[in-house]
Amino acid sequence: MFIMPNAAQRVSKAGSKISAIALTTMMLFSPLTANAALTIYNGQHKTATMALIDAFTAKTNIEVETRQGSSNELAHQVVEEGKRSPADIIYTEESTPLIMLANKGLLAPIDAKALQNIPAEYRDQNGYWVGLLARSRVIAYNKDKISPQQLPTSVHDLVDTKWKDQFAFVKTSGAFQKQLSAMIKLEGREKAKTWLEGLSRNGKVYRHNKAALDAVERGDIPFALINNYYWDSMAREKGADNLNSSLYFMGTHDLGDLVTVSGAAILASSKNLDEAQQFMAFATGEEGQKILTDKSAQYPLNPNVDTNGLKSFSELTPPNGTLDLGEYSDGKAAIDLLQEVGLL
Ligand SMILES: [Fe+2]
Repeated sequence: MFIMPNAAQRVSKAGSKISAIALTTMMLFSPLTANAALTIYNGQHKTATMALIDAFTAKTNIEVETRQGSSNELAHQVVEEGKRSPADIIYTEESTPLIMLANKGLLAPIDAKALQNIPAEYRDQNGYWVGLLARSRVIAYNKDKISPQQLPTSVHDLVDTKWKDQFAFVKTSGAFQKQLSAMIKLEGREKAKTWLEGLSRNGKVYRHNKAALDAVERGDIPFALINNYYWDSMAREKGADNLNSSLYFMGTHDLGDLVTVSGAAILASSKNLDEAQQFMAFATGEEGQKILTDKSAQYPLNPNVDTNGLKSFSELTPPNGTLDLGEYSDGKAAIDLLQEVGLL
């Protein structure tokens, strides 16, 4: 039987290595405790990540500390902290920050044990990060306000004056910005700029995807550009039949159907590589993937795990028929354009 060392023992072990003053300072000012075996910087939705971590700790007795924040902020924090970063793992909403960290040489290769759980098309070719979940851009619409037949079949249609004040979008959402990055890449900056200007004229800006969805559900606005899992989570909670809103997929391989990947990586500076590799194996394995999809209504990337009521993964119609695995990763180009158009 494995006996967990008690907290006092672990603190005194840590305390013997550093001065009492330093320890007191850390306890007072650091949000991270000195005795966690693994530290995860989490930019993904907290509930699902914490459920994953709890199950991992229960199984391995490896304690995990988290720092929550936006994926981009956390990734830049890792860059600033360099070798002194307390983070062992970073888990982000989109793949863009992971690609940035890989390009800077800040990531450690992930063991085959984790990589083999996820098909090669959903992870970094060099094994520096791995996709954990996928999500589709969708339209959530109010069934009393508009019908699927009336909804646009391309996001480009939304620049038409007929859509003035008819829809919501979230300019700060990572997935929205990814959609813009993809448009810049696939259709050119000028076309993307014209689209964004039209969107800005016609759409209503909401601060969060959930707020936009709630507005649709209340009937404040006919539809919103969001990610599938906000609506799917609400449908699981309340029952799809009890909702005023429903999901609409364009079904046309349009950018409105973009599917993006959320993933995780181990930092090269980690002092806990063994535990970090164990965590990656758990998060990509069937048990971890089931927890993630059950708690977040995002798509599991381990093919052995059921999507549990979501529209079938194979029926999604992303642009070019593929997921975004970094092809559209230029987040800076999207932010520059948002600033130029006056949205940021
Ligand atoms: Fe989200």
